Amino acid sequence: MAEAAAGSPGDTGRAASRQPAMNEAASLELLATGELTVEGRLVDASNATLYCTITAAVGQAACVYKPVAGERPLWDFPDGTLAGRELAAYLVSRAAGWDVVPPTVYRDGPFGPGMCQLWIDADETLDLVELARSGEDPRLRQMAVFDAVINNADRKIGHLLPTAAGHLYGCDHGVCFGSEYKLRTVLWQWRGKKLTPAALAALRVSLDLLTTGQLAAELASWLTATEIAATRRRIELLLAHKVHPSPPNDWPAVPWPPV
Ligand SMILES: Nc1ncnc2c1ncn2[C@@H]1O[C@H](COP(=O)(O)OP(=O)(O)O)[C@@H](O)[C@H]1O
Ligand SMILES: [Mg+2]
Repeated sequence: MAEAAAGSPGDTGRAASRQPAMNEAASLELLATGELTVEGRLVDASNATLYCTITAAVGQAACVYKPVAGERPLWDFPDGTLAGRELAAYLVSRAAGWDVVPPTVYRDGPFGPGMCQLWIDADETLDLVELARSGEDPRLRQMAVFDAVINNADRKIGHLLPTAAGHLYGCDHGVCFGSEYKLRTVLWQWRGKKLTPAALAALRVSLDLLTTGQLAAELASWLTATEIAATRRRIELLLAHKVHPSPPNDWPAVPWPPV
């Protein structure tokens, strides 16, 4: 599990910054307008992923800040686009009611523009490996469909954030929305199985919003027209076949390391 580099395990200062109860709109306002103070770097992160406190008149919370300047160059994604892809994942999750991505904004910060996301106090008593292997958990199954929509190339076990209250969030959606099929995930347990009625309903809403709603316009700030069209196409394919996708043939299907 990640720890803020500034502290030793169990002593990261996070206990002092337990998240206040805030609705989505208030969280977004705090993230967008608050003062960002870097507390430490997340030691198991591959990019400059910073654990921060965000403070405004409305309150204070912990968050993650990933400045574009700290993004590691990748061969398969254009430089400087990962933070925007994280925002795009949030927009899709929120618009269609998937609710798997914590509140996220794109804003300026001490190391320049980047994404800023509410910190989720994950329940550390849960066994994440066991959770990731479950074939029964409807939250996980919904996340598998969301990942197929956003074409997530990095759904690792450590990117699952289950809360004590029973909600399941995911994080690290920087390498998503590639226009070619590159789903890479630890959640293949439903491959080839029928999509649930709830998943089909969420897919229909997503398609609708991408076709006639504001979502496509919002995404245009972060993704290319080709990537948005490919997202629409992935949803159409899921709705046509009505099954969870199978691993790509020409692409490593499971991220390494899987945790
Ligand atoms: N919003 C968040 N809430 C709680 N924990 C998070 C959040 N974002 C990231 N983390 C934790 O920090 C780790 C590193 O962040 P991640 O987004 O995976 O960075 P990187 O892009 O560098 O891999 C994650 O595996 C997770 O444990
Ligand atoms: Mg990661």
